[in-house]
Amino acid sequence: MRRLLGTSSREMHKFLPYAWFRGKCVPFKEANVSIATHALHYGTGAFGGMRAIPDPNQNSSILLFRADRHAKRLSQSAKLLLADLEEGYVLDALHQTIKANQPNKPIYLRPFVYTSDLGIAPRLHNIETDFLIYGIELGDYLSPNGVSCRFSSWTRQEDNSLPLRGKISGAYITSSLAKTEAVESGFDEALLLNSRGKVCEASGMNIFIVREGKLITPSVDQDILEGITRASIIQIARDIDIDVIERAVDKTELLIADEVFLSGTAAKITPIRKIESTSLNANRPIMDKLRNILIEITEGRNNEYKHWITRINL
Ligand SMILES: Cc1ncc(COP(=O)(O)O)c(C=O)c1O
Repeated sequence: MRRLLGTSSREMHKFLPYAWFRGKCVPFKEANVSIATHALHYGTGAFGGMRAIPDPNQNSSILLFRADRHAKRLSQSAKLLLADLEEGYVLDALHQTIKANQPNKPIYLRPFVYTSDLGIAPRLHNIETDFLIYGIELGDYLSPNGVSCRFSSWTRQEDNSLPLRGKISGAYITSSLAKTEAVESGFDEALLLNSRGKVCEASGMNIFIVREGKLITPSVDQDILEGITRASIIQIARDIDIDVIERAVDKTELLIADEVFLSGTAAKITPIRKIESTSLNANRPIMDKLRNILIEITEGRNNEYKHWITRINL
């Protein structure tokens, strides 16, 4: 078999030197699993994704955004895979991993719970699970100036075919197919509809539109991932008296909306400038307001939301 060629991810990413593996911090290069690892074959893992930045206002401390919510979602994802992962354990492992790495740049942490047993048979009973964390240095995942999108020919899965409220690794085959289809046809991102033909989300981000001054986003019954950035944006918007409506969104609403943007841990808030052949409004006052507040919060400059930030002293 021919090995598929591409840019190696080892060249693309700057991995942090230490990972959390089998209950302790070890050098990243020594954190390796067997080729017979169950999760590698069946997608039976669940992951999280969190950003952490050096505090721009104070040396030697790292700020984590909504660490408790991320730990809770990962623990719930594990539960959906019939595994036990306590939130406190995740938080403690994150803390130790950050301390071991002493990061001085913005990083992205990837905690992962997975069936670590070796061998075959897709199942979730009578199987060993494990938990790991690794990190990479990460700046902007998508251009903060905006992205072009296409509607994907792939449909987002339904909650009764797999547990969509967890970040289940096997589910990301659809995101991967959609993202590559978008990029190979000249766009930056994919927009997925659900099986009812309603707008769902992008390959790894939730979506918002603004119409007549109101912020609208697909509701949690639309087969979306319940994004933590999404929940934070909704809270911030309500706190500054912007009406927020969570409901089913039609495809054509995106094309005539006053503003359209994506939200996610990696993407932060990223505007959509074009969908297929339709250019969207470049003036986005509501998105700008929300983005500025979110940046203030993540950089530890907003007292009102300081309970969303965990500070780790190095
Ligand atoms: C499919 C999908 N939707 C939405 C999101 C955004 O979620 P969050 O804001 O929690 O990062 C992500 C990223 O985790 C994702 O993978």
